[in-house]
Amino acid sequence: MSLILAIESSCDETAAAVVKDGRTVLSNVISTQIETHKKFGGVVPEVASRKHLEALNPVIDKAVVDAGIALSDVDYIAVTYAPGLVGALLVGVSGAKALSLALGKPLIGVHHIRGHICANFIEHPELEPPFVCLVASGGHSHIVYVKDYTEYEVLGQTRDDAAGEAFDKVARVLGLGYPGGPKIDALAVEGDENAVSFKKVRFPNGSLDFSFSGIKTGVINHCHNIEQKGETVNKADIAASFQKSVCEVMVDNLLEAASLKNCTKVALAGGVACNSRLRAELNKRSLGLKIYYPSPILCTDNAAMIGCSAHYESLVSNFADLSLNAVPYLGIDLK
Ligand code: KG4
Ligand code: ZN
Repeated sequence: MSLILAIESSCDETAAAVVKDGRTVLSNVISTQIETHKKFGGVVPEVASRKHLEALNPVIDKAVVDAGIALSDVDYIAVTYAPGLVGALLVGVSGAKALSLALGKPLIGVHHIRGHICANFIEHPELEPPFVCLVASGGHSHIVYVKDYTEYEVLGQTRDDAAGEAFDKVARVLGLGYPGGPKIDALAVEGDENAVSFKKVRFPNGSLDFSFSGIKTGVINHCHNIEQKGETVNKADIAASFQKSVCEVMVDNLLEAASLKNCTKVALAGGVACNSRLRAELNKRSLGLKIYYPSPILCTDNAAMIGCSAHYESLVSNFADLSLNAVPYLGIDLK
């Protein structure tokens, strides 16, 4: 049996969880900074680091109490060390190293994107690799071939904005507030998704890469044109049309990746995987494929997913030592 205390602090959520044998979550505590960053319209890195410092110890204490264990019961200490905001990551990494040293427990450094993918293993106990996964969050948009629990191959990724970033920026243009994804998702229900045609970008030569900045610019130009004519912008129509365009292209690439790798299983992960239109698009088009996505609380940043990934890293003895550092950019295929 393995009992892992996992820590996550890569962006604006301070989180700790206790995970048993990779897939059983004994506790999952998340302290979000959304209210703090709302007034700035996005995450302010320095503010995020300071908030993590305040929240980290109480969040860890609560995770241990909620799990009904003593800190000394844990077998491993796991922490997100890459990628993310470097100052934010450093808080979690420093806390994890201190615990590892004080308790004499091995340390495991976890890649944040691998963590997002592993949220699917928690949600679906029967799920096993190989499968292809779309990871779409505020900082990342990747199509990943999950060969094995610790073997990942990137098949495509964004060449500019991440999908969640595009949702957040378009929401800002429409004056909907931060974070934009859930606001656009909710408003789009009232709109006509065929009202405006926003161009979907597909790259040639079978590339599975994405580009979302053009759609974002398309929304800005569309709003300006309407305003210049003295007409009122129909925010619901724009939200729905933008969302349709982004979701369709993500599912296009995911299904193409499944066919490329002969996979019968496809998964979603990351904050954008909460999106109802994305889930509906995948459900509609994935005939013959088994589809997986985590429940919303496991899609957005949390430490349970980090504990799950750490379990599989421990099985291949991928341990860190006290020289572990925060790494702001790191490919998912690198260790
Ligand atoms: O995975 P996550 O919590 O953090 C990162 O690792 O970035 O993802 C946050 C992102 C934000 O951009 C947010 O707007 C987006 O996920 N998001 C959504 C939805 N819920 C969260 N995007 C679209 N639809 C949603 N329902
Ligand atoms: Zn994330």
